[in-house]
Amino acid sequence: MAVTKPLRAAVIGLGRAGHIHTAVLRSLDGVALVAVADPDPVRRAAFDSVHVAASAEDLLELELDYCVVATPIPEREQVGRALAVAGVPALIEGPIAPSLPAAMRLAEAFDNAGLLGAVAQSERHNPVVKELGLRLRGGGFGSVYQVATRRYDRLGDHSPGVGVVAQMAIHDVDLAMWLTGSHVTSVAANVARVSGGGHEDHAVALLRLSGGENADIQVNRISPRKERVVIAHTDRGCVVADALTHTIIHYAHDGLDDVARTADPTSYLPEKVTSYEVPVADPFRGQHEAFRGALLGLSSDIATLRQGAATIAVTEAVITAARTGACVTPTDHVLPSASLRSAQPVAFRPT
Ligand SMILES: NC(=O)c1ccc[n+]([C@@H]2O[C@H](COP(=O)([O-])OP(=O)(O)OC[C@H]3O[C@@H](n4cnc5c(N)ncnc54)[C@H](O)[C@@H]3O)[C@@H](O)[C@H]2O)c1
Repeated sequence: MAVTKPLRAAVIGLGRAGHIHTAVLRSLDGVALVAVADPDPVRRAAFDSVHVAASAEDLLELELDYCVVATPIPEREQVGRALAVAGVPALIEGPIAPSLPAAMRLAEAFDNAGLLGAVAQSERHNPVVKELGLRLRGGGFGSVYQVATRRYDRLGDHSPGVGVVAQMAIHDVDLAMWLTGSHVTSVAANVARVSGGGHEDHAVALLRLSGGENADIQVNRISPRKERVVIAHTDRGCVVADALTHTIIHYAHDGLDDVARTADPTSYLPEKVTSYEVPVADPFRGQHEAFRGALLGLSSDIATLRQGAATIAVTEAVITAARTGACVTPTDHVLPSASLRSAQPVAFRPT
């Protein structure tokens, strides 16, 4: 049997996120963590069994198959573009850049190089969310006309310099587009800060999507109650995916034709409600498995860099809508159908 060499991977940025990535890469089949980079010597000192460098540029001669970029947000464009120029595929933490133009430059750099670049969009790989997406796409739960998400946590400001919209709501913006297969055409929002932090700590956003769907997103990073729920209303009922209880509950109805005209007291009966237990799995690991699959040319549900740019267009619109009180159209006209594009797997270059 032919033995394939493991993919040679490196992690750039060794903060909390970088440590999670290195731990996953050390245990991922078919992948070898061969190098890390960080300008901070204290953080570098924790790694002695791999090549250790002070900057991404110092890794470019190592014949890497890919890098994970887990630097602070302002550094991601420069680091990512250096990788693209050097021909190294990358999985980049989200938001991939501090602004839409920077995100577009990054996406274009990878596209122009014909390289695989993806956003570390771990929430798509949360097992209940992934299952919800699979079943919706398979037609099992019907077609979506409304999405609601609730993401509450006591995270504080773990992404220095960003508010809850870029830290948390960006995941739900991605999920709304991913689950519906549509892009966002208008945004109304309110964001506010009630804690001592420098940025907004809770937000509500209402999105209209290109297929006529609507989504409402609630996030709060100072809540003592943790919640991670995605609800999809479809022409076949209502599906509630709860990432904390690892369950999906489908409340079925027979179709939309009669529901507006007739109340149906039987719709709450147990025979119309189906619960699914979804096996627990690590979303971080899931996104790495998906990226590895894409790199190997297998079908894989990764978030492309253009999709990452599209989410930034929407989160920027959320902030503008909240500031102005107006409905805002995301400035992603430069991203035709970005939300609908599937990943373009790049054939793995055998080493
Ligand atoms: N903390 C989490 O749990 C978490 C989870 C998911 C995603 N994220 C994302 O990951 C990002 C990083 O989070 P963190 O908590 O690890 O941040 P952090 O600030 O603790 O770590 C960032 C690291 O990057 C290094 N760095 C800075 N500039 C660099 C450069 N040019 N090249 C290489 N390394 C550089 C820093 O020295 C630091 O060690 C966040 O912005 C967030 O978007 C974080």
